[in-house]
Amino acid sequence: MSRTVVFIQGGGAGFDQEKAVRRIIAAAGVEFDWQVFLAGQAAIDEGLAPLPAPMFDAVRAAGVALKTKLLHPPRVTENFNIHFRHDLGLFASVRPLKNLAGLPARFENLDILLVREITEDLYTAIEHEIVPGVVQSLKVVTEAACLRFFRFGFELARKQGRKTIHCIHKANILKLADGLFLDCFRSVAAGYPDIQPREMIVDNACMQLASRPQQFEVLVAGNLYGDLLSDLGAGLIGGISATGAVSHGDGVRVYEAIHGGPVEVIGRDRANPLPLLSPAIEMLNDLGHADSAGRICRAVEIVLKAGRPRTPDLGGDDGTQAMADAIIAALP
Ligand code: IPM
Ligand code: MG
Repeated sequence: MSRTVVFIQGGGAGFDQEKAVRRIIAAAGVEFDWQVFLAGQAAIDEGLAPLPAPMFDAVRAAGVALKTKLLHPPRVTENFNIHFRHDLGLFASVRPLKNLAGLPARFENLDILLVREITEDLYTAIEHEIVPGVVQSLKVVTEAACLRFFRFGFELARKQGRKTIHCIHKANILKLADGLFLDCFRSVAAGYPDIQPREMIVDNACMQLASRPQQFEVLVAGNLYGDLLSDLGAGLIGGISATGAVSHGDGVRVYEAIHGGPVEVIGRDRANPLPLLSPAIEMLNDLGHADSAGRICRAVEIVLKAGRPRTPDLGGDDGTQAMADAIIAALP
């Protein structure tokens, strides 16, 4: 019997990406029992709840989900992606900054693990207006969340045999919030003598990443800095194609596309399929299909090196499915 994997479809370019990626996975010989849920904009368009309770039950039962970015109708102020992570108890988002073979990039041979805290910080979105013209947004940092997050980061670093880990912060200014974050890092680091703990202020980390990224093995960062650094990192390795996140909770892992594409590609078969294929490849590796994952990577490399077909964001004028067809045809 094939394994159940929940697919979460958030709308927009996600539809074209889903079709492409599921076809590629099937062509590589992996069969899943896909349980598809519409969420975000895709659900609202069908008159359904944007974050349906049965979807969460299904993800908890299966333990694994593949998810496109959840889009929003205009004027919706809450972000469904953030609610989704919160309701599922996802607390750490692992974002590999690793070159995709065949994809031209600013730097080659990068292999950095960015681990982002995803439960608190400014992302709690607790904001209020004190008087017109004066607003406050609260940055929330708790010891419990930080300790759990750093233990996760150090365990992952150890499992992957990485020797250094950089904690990214701004504790020189945010003495309390980032100060607590850093204190927790230090106390967890003390339990991992095999891994060198390093500390770096976030603005310097941006400069170091843009100039000498090879110095980093693992970055651990709070929610907002982690978001910014993951896009900066994407820029280093060639843009949105090689990005993706594995967001971890207790007993659940969600493989997330963190980029959909610009609005112009929506519904026009013009979205790049790789932002969803990249996390899908991670998922295949984790679920024991390393062979198929490797074959898909080689096929992607062949297509990227050939330079066509390419979607508009990669400089071409081809469609999502044409690119998927080419990847399938190139499967070794
Ligand atoms: C990401 C995305 C999300 C975030 C958006 C879609 C809310 O940018 O996963 O990096 O800010 O976390
Ligand atoms: Mg982001």
